[in-house]
Amino acid sequence: METAGEPLRLRHDRGETRIVVGEGGFEQAVAASPELWQDRSVFLISSPTVLRLQGESLAPLRAAAPVLVELEVPDGEAAKCLDVAGNLWEAMARAGGKRDSVVVAFGGGSVGDLAGFVAATFLRGVTFVQLPTTLLAQVDAAIGGKTAIDIAAGKNLVGAFHPSALVVAESAWLRTLPPAELRSGLVEAIKMAALLDLDLLTRIERDLEPLLAGDPAALAPVVRSAAAAKVGVVERDPYEAGERQLLNYGHTFGHALEAAAG
Ligand code: GLY
Repeated sequence: METAGEPLRLRHDRGETRIVVGEGGFEQAVAASPELWQDRSVFLISSPTVLRLQGESLAPLRAAAPVLVELEVPDGEAAKCLDVAGNLWEAMARAGGKRDSVVVAFGGGSVGDLAGFVAATFLRGVTFVQLPTTLLAQVDAAIGGKTAIDIAAGKNLVGAFHPSALVVAESAWLRTLPPAELRSGLVEAIKMAALLDLDLLTRIERDLEPLLAGDPAALAPVVRSAAAAKVGVVERDPYEAGERQLLNYGHTFGHALEAAAG
């Protein structure tokens, strides 16, 4: 079993994001970050499918955070709307949320985008932690501080840059990913490798079989290299003024295709 090594560090104008990758990374990161869970309210935002498949793995966080409020949002893109964000703001305010509260996203890119937007806006911004459970979110969406909700005019049109304090890409969470989700994340890793890291491309070609089978030991080094490549781009261009636009390759076209196809 590959264990999580030293965290990657993404430096930005508000501090740094620690990115922990590997099997066992979640338990390790929870134990190493008591300042994030103690003496403050922690709001965990997740969706029914993620909680059904991986909810039990949250045990270390449930034990470490004396005030943990769990809030459920719909699965998938349906969560990324103003109504759901509004319900979360209300629930957090009623549960005693304060400026030192922490929002934790546990799920794929949609949960991360929504929870990040709520963290960026609740009381003008509170600490944000991402626990990405899909391969796509581990290699891309959870890294780099982009948060957003959708409006009728289009996807991701309202949001904020709000860097996370901590991202944990726990490889064990990838075990329950459906094959289509695994392929979707792998394609993103291939795109990043082709753009930024040809050694990673060679590794993906070599290990394609265990990667497509969802083997965490094969996936962890790919996630780590893809995340490291993205860290470099985001450090050089945090607000997407130039180089970072390369990472939108495929995404912008996908948004247009989805909008046109309804
Ligand atoms: N998903 C592309 C980016 O974070 O810039």
